[in-house]
Amino acid sequence: MKRSIALLGFMGCGKSTVAKRLAEIVGYDFIDLDTIIEKKNNKTTPEIFAEGGEDLFRKKEREALEDVIKFQICIIATGGGAPCFFDNMELINRYSRSIYIKCSVDTLISRLSTSRTERPLIKGKSRSELKSLIEEMITAREPYYSKADIIIDSDNMETAKDVAEAIQQELLKIPRV
Ligand code: S3P
Repeated sequence: MKRSIALLGFMGCGKSTVAKRLAEIVGYDFIDLDTIIEKKNNKTTPEIFAEGGEDLFRKKEREALEDVIKFQICIIATGGGAPCFFDNMELINRYSRSIYIKCSVDTLISRLSTSRTERPLIKGKSRSELKSLIEEMITAREPYYSKADIIIDSDNMETAKDVAEAIQQELLKIPRV
């Protein structure tokens, strides 16, 4: 049963901001998967990467995803890589209606290069390095993101509220089972 709603997409696509707006519209609780991982482990994401690299982070991400998605009814903003490891995407689609927020590389670069959130996978990259890295990562991740129930192209939308409202319209068309 698809009780929850999961937002997916690359770092910087606006998952958390849109999830908060959507939570206000549909009246569900909002959960940020990275925050759950950090609280559960009492460590920040960069600390988990420093301790055991990406492998450790992905294990903890999977555990947190299972805890949240199986047992809560909520709107989940997943981390950008979450759908792309283990059978996470199958898990997401089994328990939630999933939405991929698509965003152009140019928009992602401008958001990520001014963001204050520390993201270990892109840390210390110049603008041009960031461009090729994002392009490479999106190409690898797109097959997973594309399994989402709904794909929203957010480039021509002005605000997170606009994206949330567009998602709400699409959600009406998707069965929960
Ligand atoms: C990651 C995205 C981050 C966080 C971690 C890894 C990724 O979340 O989970 O740094 O692999 O794309 P956001 O997408 O919320 O930035």
